[in-house]
Amino acid sequence: MMDPAFRLARAALFRLDAETAHQTTLKALKAGLYPHQLTPDDPRLAVTVAGLSFPNPLGIAAGFDKNAEVPDAMLRMGFGFAEIGTVTPRAQTGNPRPRVFRLVHDRGVINRLGFNNEGHEAALARLTARRGRTGIVGVNIGANKDTVDRAADYVLGVERFAAVASYFTVNISSPNTPGLRDLQARASLAELLSRVLAARDTATARVGRRVPVFLKVAPDLDRAGEEDVAAEAVAQAIDGLIVSNTTLDRAGLTDRAKAETGGLSGHPLFRRSTACLARFRTLVGPTLPIIGVGGVDSPEAALAKMAAGANLVQLYTGLVYEGPGLVARIKSHFAKTCDREGLRSIAEAVGVATDNWAKLDG
Ligand code: FNR
Repeated sequence: MMDPAFRLARAALFRLDAETAHQTTLKALKAGLYPHQLTPDDPRLAVTVAGLSFPNPLGIAAGFDKNAEVPDAMLRMGFGFAEIGTVTPRAQTGNPRPRVFRLVHDRGVINRLGFNNEGHEAALARLTARRGRTGIVGVNIGANKDTVDRAADYVLGVERFAAVASYFTVNISSPNTPGLRDLQARASLAELLSRVLAARDTATARVGRRVPVFLKVAPDLDRAGEEDVAAEAVAQAIDGLIVSNTTLDRAGLTDRAKAETGGLSGHPLFRRSTACLARFRTLVGPTLPIIGVGGVDSPEAALAKMAAGANLVQLYTGLVYEGPGLVARIKSHFAKTCDREGLRSIAEAVGVATDNWAKLDG
């Protein structure tokens, strides 16, 4: 199914260190060297989530475009939305290289980048320059590694990007910033969310629009931890959950790179993150928006995320192995599913298999 041009590109990219390959990809995207979507999306793929109108439910996940260099390229490629970041207030170099590893045998990636990014100012300048253009661009915000008051970094993110962000993602689930995942604990989360949402509410009058705030969670919480996060999300009326970030789990891997420290993404994350998503769907009920991410590398996997309870789907690692053609393949499968099942909108597929997925041990 892989198109011949990508087969060649992939062979060349896989000879490079994974991070160098990614930098090369970003250069190609900036130069316009990617397949452009020529026809509008099937209207049955359009979904409205958290008050935003998406032309289709498939987005590029955070981490691909940390510094907001190529959001418009990703939208022109056919993604229904692009999430930039994670951005932190001050620029950071992250961990020493090498720090991104392909697990080719397992179709996964392990990364321990550690929020390397150019900081708020650089990303803000780029997003300000594209203001007025159409397309949904979310901003994923985080905290600097050496920050004492982490919540203050997230508040700064909201204040600075409110005018240019279609939505915010509060990322407290990267495994590569020591202690960050502790923000998922109930008391810390309660304080963080109340400060972030207060900042968002203050910004609403200034920017003339209420910017939705999503919370991105890890797939490694225990059941009590999931219940706490879900309860807090509902109690504070956040606008949605993103399930999930990368995992520290290494079960079932065969590639020798499995020994690397960091967060695992791609195919081996699919089952775990999808079961986790279904449990969150069960905990929060049918109306709170959920973005499903983790291991989507085929049209069937993307549809399974929606069936498990996702209103929107994101991917990153699937692009590494399948190339940009995956985007059109997923959307075509969604349209054919509408034909076959007689759906007026792909939104009607959301949650049809939540119970089955929630029963699996993730
Ligand atoms: C990521 N991911 C990520 N997530 C996030 O919230 N902020 C970030 O900065 C990053 N950075 C990042 C870098 C790299 C190299 C990878 C592979 C991933 C996680 C990503 O958004 C997603 O949640 C997981 O990768 C699972 O999806 P896939 O990749 O299996 O489709």
